[in-house]
Amino acid sequence: MTTATAPRPPETPARAATPGKRALVVGASSGIGAALAKRLVAEGWQVAAVARRAELLDLLAAECAKLPRAGGGGLVTAVHDVARAHEVPELFERLARELGGLDLVVYAAAVMPKVAKDEYDTEKDLEQLAVNVGGCIAWGNAAARLFQSQRFGTLVGISSIAGERGRKGAPVYGTTKAAMNTYLEALRNRLSECGVHVCTIKPGFVDTDMTKGMGKLLWLISADEAARLILKAARARANERFVPRQWWIVATVIKNIPSFLFKKLNV
Ligand SMILES: NC(=O)c1ccc[n+]([C@@H]2O[C@H](COP(=O)([O-])OP(=O)(O)OC[C@H]3O[C@@H](n4cnc5c(N)ncnc54)[C@H](OP(=O)(O)O)[C@@H]3O)[C@@H](O)[C@H]2O)c1
Repeated sequence: MTTATAPRPPETPARAATPGKRALVVGASSGIGAALAKRLVAEGWQVAAVARRAELLDLLAAECAKLPRAGGGGLVTAVHDVARAHEVPELFERLARELGGLDLVVYAAAVMPKVAKDEYDTEKDLEQLAVNVGGCIAWGNAAARLFQSQRFGTLVGISSIAGERGRKGAPVYGTTKAAMNTYLEALRNRLSECGVHVCTIKPGFVDTDMTKGMGKLLWLISADEAARLILKAARARANERFVPRQWWIVATVIKNIPSFLFKKLNV
């Protein structure tokens, strides 16, 4: 005797994530991060802006609300200290849910304290590591996990020309940017196989709080111009991009100065 089995209902596939215009910017309360958030909102993106200073994030949200927006862009904010890396997975998931998915993550948070030529302050140095490197890894890992599983997405890390060589003026800031470069390159190599892009941005001098009081600076550009060039590089799926591009010449020269000469330079 054979028993008839009821035909199985067709399997309903889990709803696949689809690309859109949803971005998360870490370090968005001022400077380059804030300029990026504003540009994206103006272009119709849904943006989550993350940083510590709530009052500046509120100001950014108010400015974004006044922007002429193409395609209904919007901004949500979250107060977070990137040194608290253990908070990242939950916050990342919450923000991704609020935006309805994620296509772009930009890590722009960093600190660059003034360091005297004879100063060796471990606490100050480790804070830079926690923010510039630890935070980048915590947010980068969260982005990589999501982007790998959905098979699309772009991660942009704002590094610096300062990561090219070890300079007298900022031993640990430069170290953090060199570490970031290596981490981002490794993620790029891993994730390119599944269509995910990782872009390392190396700005020269940008007119922000970070460069205040530094005097006249070579090829100084505004934060908004930096944001424009960064988005252009991300869209072109550039692996690495100096911002503005002519810093590539400086990087090539300084990378090729032999150590016996470089240690005599006052940079
Ligand atoms: N300006 C330049 O000439 C230059 C050149 C090369 C590279 N860069 C890089 O560009 C990026 C943006 O810097 P910027 O020039 O725009 O300087 P900025 O105006 O000082 O911006 C730094 C951002 O990082 C955030 N941040 C710092 N510590 C944080 C923490 N513990 N938790 C969360 N957010 C934190 C700040 O927000 P809160 O303080 O509100 O937390 C702020 O939004 C940095 O990675 C910097 O290294 C800048």
